[in-house]
Amino acid sequence: MATTKKSVLCVALMYSCFLVHHACDHDGVSFGYSGSTGPKYWGSLSPNFTLCSKGIQQSPIDIVKDEAVYIPQLEPLERDYTATNATIVDNVFNIALRYNDTAETVKVGGIKYKLKQLHWHSPSEHTINGERFAMELHMVHVTEDGNVTVVAILYRHGKPDPFLFQIKEQLAELYAEGCKAEKGDPLPVGVVDMTELRQGADRYYRYVGSLTAPPCTENVVWNILGEVREMTKEQAADLMAPLEGSYRHNSRPLQQLNGRTVQLYDKSLKIRKMV
Ligand SMILES: *[C@@H]1O[C@H](CO)[C@@H](O)[C@H](O)[C@H]1NC(C)=O
Ligand SMILES: *[C@@H]1O[C@H](CO)[C@@H](O)[C@H](O)[C@H]1NC(C)=O
Ligand SMILES: *[C@@H]1O[C@H](CO)[C@@H](O)[C@H](O)[C@H]1NC(C)=O
Ligand SMILES: *[C@@H]1O[C@H](CO)[C@@H](O)[C@H](O)[C@H]1NC(C)=O
Repeated sequence: MATTKKSVLCVALMYSCFLVHHACDHDGVSFGYSGSTGPKYWGSLSPNFTLCSKGIQQSPIDIVKDEAVYIPQLEPLERDYTATNATIVDNVFNIALRYNDTAETVKVGGIKYKLKQLHWHSPSEHTINGERFAMELHMVHVTEDGNVTVVAILYRHGKPDPFLFQIKEQLAELYAEGCKAEKGDPLPVGVVDMTELRQGADRYYRYVGSLTAPPCTENVVWNILGEVREMTKEQAADLMAPLEGSYRHNSRPLQQLNGRTVQLYDKSLKIRKMV
């Protein structure tokens, strides 16, 4: 009898500790990934979010390899990534690195876009031939007039991702801060070496879609690298750990293609055709 009471008390205490650590008061973040604020309802949560339900060029999508159209004129993804100062922030719905007016750019369709922030989704949002991966990194680039292009990298669990070594301590700090991190200033990370993220664009898929979170803004040019990379299970868990439980799964369901074409850039095909 006494034992039962004791364990009930323990469970109650654990539950309240859990609440203290995780039931944060999310200023200004009205959407979630489950229940009544989940993706199905995003469009009706705010007049600013109507594209989430009414849009016709939404992301993410399933990329069907056989239906991607090889475009010989597509250019390699020219990324001027070197090393730059960044801060890390808990946005409630993801963990992001922010870049302030950096020189890091990507050239898409002859236009230079500046790297603004990057963040992670778990599991992947885009799928390839129906296969979903463990994680997806979005590197968000903008022009001065607000056009957006995203370079996305898919990850499966495996070998360590060297890029993530650089933010391991800051992730631990965000986790330790709990709810405070959501309201706090971004933590400085110092100079982040970006060269790791410049690799592996011999093949990419391009299509026009949207932001995958509210307000679901359209005309976003997506570039999804064909090469799936690896990170350890621990690294994936560390990236999600600072977030409250329901946001650790922050992957929007697949959206209709609605007649859009996915284009393919493939360096090896380009070389073969030239020979
Ligand atoms: C919609 O967005 C505008 C501009 O960002 C903002 O001022 C306004 O408060 C938003 N409205 C709602 C209901 O969130
Ligand atoms: C990073 O920021 C520090 C402090 O503001 C500055 O001294 C340094 O030059 C910056 N480094 C780069 C690569 O921007
Ligand atoms: C961004 O950089 C500019 C100058 O390069 C500086 O004036 C501004 O305070 C910085 N903003 C943040 C949020 O760090
Ligand atoms: C942004 O997109 C608009 C509409 O597609 C286009 O007219 C404009 O030239 C673009 N801006 C830049 C800097 O590329």
